[in-house]
Amino acid sequence: MSLFRTLDSADVKGKRVLLRVDLNVPMENGKVGDATRIERVLPTIREIADKGGKVILLAHFGRPKGGPDEANSLRPVAAAVAEHLGRPVGFAADCVGPVAASAIAAMKDGDVLLLENTRFYKAEEKNDPAFVEQLAALGDIFVNDAFSAAHRAHASTEGVAHKLPAFAGRAMQAELDALTLALGSPVRPVAAIVGGAKVSTKLDLIGNLVKRVDILVIGGGMANTFLFAQGKSVGKSLCEKDLADTARAIIEAAKAANCRILLPIDANVAKEFKAHAPSRFVDVDHVAEDEMILDIGPKSIAEVETALAGIKTLVWNGPFGAFELPPFDLGTMQVAKTAASLTQSGKIKSVAGGGDTVSALNAAGVVDQFTYVSTAGGAFLEWMEGKVLPGVEALRAK
Ligand code: 3PG
Ligand code: MG
Repeated sequence: MSLFRTLDSADVKGKRVLLRVDLNVPMENGKVGDATRIERVLPTIREIADKGGKVILLAHFGRPKGGPDEANSLRPVAAAVAEHLGRPVGFAADCVGPVAASAIAAMKDGDVLLLENTRFYKAEEKNDPAFVEQLAALGDIFVNDAFSAAHRAHASTEGVAHKLPAFAGRAMQAELDALTLALGSPVRPVAAIVGGAKVSTKLDLIGNLVKRVDILVIGGGMANTFLFAQGKSVGKSLCEKDLADTARAIIEAAKAANCRILLPIDANVAKEFKAHAPSRFVDVDHVAEDEMILDIGPKSIAEVETALAGIKTLVWNGPFGAFELPPFDLGTMQVAKTAASLTQSGKIKSVAGGGDTVSALNAAGVVDQFTYVSTAGGAFLEWMEGKVLPGVEALRAK
């Protein structure tokens, strides 16, 4: 039994279904770039439409200042949703009021309509009760398929869920299932890979993980801070030296919790931060003053791969190195491929998330070979930090 109310228990036939989706997609010259977020919500749209519901899509776009603004209109996104869905998608130039109401009144069962950017109203982000009422008045039931916006307690992500019968859509459900599998009640041993540039942005995350995982692999620029805290010279590497005490405290907390921390033992170092900069592999004890660590080295890769061979569950956020600058993508690519093949052979379950992580896994060509890859950035991080996500809480079965 799911902890959340899902579409299985929703009766949508003939109903006006407010479906919150995340259509905050990258735009390139007026066209949708990466359509992953659109693709993810198609099954829910189709299911509700095919069951005879009227699908009213609610979404935000960008961070407008709280008034209509052409650059943040969802109108071009409606066309992209229609294209991917293979069905017509109507568009209403307002998300509340008479424009929205009359567009909805004209819908037939099975129709799909997208309402304009909810963030054209300041009241959306304030979760203002009067605005929540205006949204709720447009629907009979609420379905949330926008995990990646669920860390926001906004009117369309949280408020309205308390005013109408509320359910998780299929994308939300898949996300929650994957997250439960990865950290909620994982099959052990479980390892986490945490990379990225800065420790300072991931302190809460690491603090939560050391209590929950058996192995914590630390990579990316943030690993340099840990190496520095252990008295190693990191040369010109990105390093938050003022966080050395914090890094040492994390290592102690990990010991106390029986969590093994894996730090790089060797690195690919260069004198310049650019693609194809001349580089060499070196043990982390021997980084020169004028060098910077831009990736993990082959010994570290092998050590991580050995660790992965002994686990059952992997959760991954953040690349190992400067993966956008070849050859410093090697560590991330290699480990991504190993994790993918362990997943494909049924040895591990793997869940990854975060913007950079998804780009890196895409570059490695393994997104489809992980158990689940989240399209969420901030929401995935907050969930890994052990925080309560308001949009998810509102769907919890009572
Ligand atoms: C995202 O793109 O991360 C989500 O859509 C949330 O957007 P926000 O960070 O502007 O709230
Ligand atoms: Mg964001």
